[in-house]
Amino acid sequence: METEYYRLSENDIECGRDKIALESAGKIIKNGGLVAFPTETVYGLGANALNSEAVLKIFAAKGRPADNPLIVHISDPNDADKFVYTDEIYNRLKEKFMPGPLTVIMPRRDCIPDAVTAGLDSAGIRCPSNIIARKLIEYAGVPIAAPSANSSGKPSPTRAEHVLDDMNGKIEMILDGGSCGVGVESTVVKISDGGIIILRPGAVTEEMLKTICDKVSVAHAVTEELDKNEKPQSPGMKYKHYAPSCPLVLVDGENNKVTEFFKEKQNSENCVILCFDEEISCLNQDKILSMGKRSDIKEQIKNLFA
Ligand code: TXA
Ligand code: MG
Repeated sequence: METEYYRLSENDIECGRDKIALESAGKIIKNGGLVAFPTETVYGLGANALNSEAVLKIFAAKGRPADNPLIVHISDPNDADKFVYTDEIYNRLKEKFMPGPLTVIMPRRDCIPDAVTAGLDSAGIRCPSNIIARKLIEYAGVPIAAPSANSSGKPSPTRAEHVLDDMNGKIEMILDGGSCGVGVESTVVKISDGGIIILRPGAVTEEMLKTICDKVSVAHAVTEELDKNEKPQSPGMKYKHYAPSCPLVLVDGENNKVTEFFKEKQNSENCVILCFDEEISCLNQDKILSMGKRSDIKEQIKNLFA
């Protein structure tokens, strides 16, 4: 299949100049096709969340295990109740963090098919802050099921070029909205027994969640290796993720020793160094990439996958 590619700017959307691209993307989703689109976290691979056949195409394009459920994206946080049973904690999360990089797992209603939830009785709801994502959902007129737009197991795409490399010929359309501001996926939380459990860490942190709820905990699968037969609360946590296509070595230690190590390595063939701005000036710049300043975690997160 031929993959159509459209470049959109947020500015264009605000002035209504990109109506044609969005209308046609919305139509593809509504009629059961796949569209990759930008969000503030990473690029998503979207299908009509109310159409099982369309949703199954996502699993095929990504090579995703069938037991790993998808997140349902909505354009207005107040729409959640059409698809899941919301409660008072959801209302507090909604007021403080939505639209934004947060996914909330709640008991699902019957309109959400098994294909989306991998047969679970809950569904994850997310309202992205990215305007292109929200407009696409509005034009589609249906909620959009979307995982990250990468082949299963690979790093998540934070630019449309990454999606094109990976998905060209497998999906109907790619909407290019530039690079993603956050750079890692949304925080996934589950509302349970009047509290909040973090199933996947992200831009909305434990500290931030504690400002609206006293009972916040982090799922075991986030901090520790799972036992052989242990089932994580979030099925995705049991699979290999973010694996680049070459070996990766983590170097940790005192700053000057790390720099020494890099100096030694920089001339070896096939080795690229991923470091911080502080190291870049004393190394040969040909095979070096910086993730940002040592102290700037937000910048590092934004650049990591790219
Ligand atoms: O930022 C994001 O969340 C991106 C963008 C595209 O929105 N999406 C994303 O989707 O990261 P994905 O499919 O790569 O990750 C979804 C995670 C998986 O770990 C999955 O197991 C978990 O959410 N999940 C989804 N529904 C669930 C449910 N009902 N119960 C438990 N975990 C669920
Ligand atoms: Mg993913």
